[in-house]
Amino acid sequence: MSESEQEIRKGLAGVVVDTTAVSKVDPESNSLLYRGYPVQELAATQSFEAVAWLLWHGELPTPDELTAFERLERAQRSLAPEVRAAIELTPTTAHPMDVVRTAVSVLGATDPNADDRSPEATLEKSVRLFAAIPAIVAFDERRRKGEDLVEPRNDLDYARNFLWMTFGEVPDDDVVDAFRVSLVLYAEHSFNASTFAARVITSTLADVYSAVTGAVGALKGQLHGGANEAVLHTFVEIGLDEAPEGRAADWLDLALAEKRKIMGFGHRVYKNGDSRVPTMRAALERLVEYYDRPEVLALYEELEQSMAERKNIKPNLDYPSGPAYHLMGFSTEAFTPLFVAARVVGWTAHIREQLGANALIRPLSAYVGPEERHVPAS
Ligand code: ACO
Repeated sequence: MSESEQEIRKGLAGVVVDTTAVSKVDPESNSLLYRGYPVQELAATQSFEAVAWLLWHGELPTPDELTAFERLERAQRSLAPEVRAAIELTPTTAHPMDVVRTAVSVLGATDPNADDRSPEATLEKSVRLFAAIPAIVAFDERRRKGEDLVEPRNDLDYARNFLWMTFGEVPDDDVVDAFRVSLVLYAEHSFNASTFAARVITSTLADVYSAVTGAVGALKGQLHGGANEAVLHTFVEIGLDEAPEGRAADWLDLALAEKRKIMGFGHRVYKNGDSRVPTMRAALERLVEYYDRPEVLALYEELEQSMAERKNIKPNLDYPSGPAYHLMGFSTEAFTPLFVAARVVGWTAHIREQLGANALIRPLSAYVGPEERHVPAS
């Protein structure tokens, strides 16, 4: 069969490109398993650090393994001087995703063994990225508000320290827990666009930092990670300071008439609802209660119901996480960098898997341009 006769699956929809043992997304049973464990169970019982370990190693850590890993992570939380300098060189008007992408790249440039792709070195780099990204996101968030850097605290777990570095205080457990849940849910989701980008880059035998830098770029787009930021823009457009009372439905009618994509709705794999949404929605409900903001939940519900009635399309994880991050106090542009902090675990787990059985990822295309022709003789 010639290249042009082969079936073209736009967007690789439905194409199985490789095996993976990292996670299983099953749209039929509407489930997501990390290394066999339902993500809801992990979100209910595990720290983000334990989930990272699980995704990298395939098993939950023993208490000793977890303690050793936490020690390693806490020792690498500070912002490296080169990374800090690079961030300070970017304008405060830059989108935080551009800052994270740049900072990850600089982190790679400061690793003298960046090109070591052995399983041990790849794991070390995974932990380095995991530990360093919160400081990058928090520092950028603070400098955009004209606030000074807050140094990490090694007596705090990952989620608490992240919030500490961002806000200069550790919020109550209700808030910390909703944040931890969001990180666990965002950590991994099989061959999504950014993970696949990381695997493509890795397949050329480029280094881990190049793969993660590329993955950050892929996550930025609104059809992928950028949707959590875009959801909040929608909420602001409708108005989230008072109960919607029909305004969300009216807004939706207009947006659909203009053929706009409604951010935070729909999914390439799940067609009957995203398995992660109920858990994140429950976390959002707890935040709404904690901050006493029932109008946010009312807006959430009105838009969700209107979308179901008009298009029968259900929310994805970005729909509850956007307003949750807003209630926690993050600026809207910082939402997708929070997704980076979580998903770097999945990216690096896939990078290690790709390196373990590598084949260059190089698909074909069907050429539709002009047939061979020749430059006219002058
Ligand atoms: N708003 C309006 N219509 C939608 C939406 C939406 N959010 N999602 C799908 N549709 C419609 C499309 O217009 C299309 O209709 P048509 O057949 O009449 O043209 C149909 O549903 C199929 O949609 P596609 O975009 O072809 O489906 P695909 O699988 O390529 O899209 C995607 C999945 C990109 C996530 C899409 O649903 C979308 O754009 N959603 C909004 C962005 C978003 O929330 N992204 C986050 C993804 S999840 C994550 O990253 C955690």
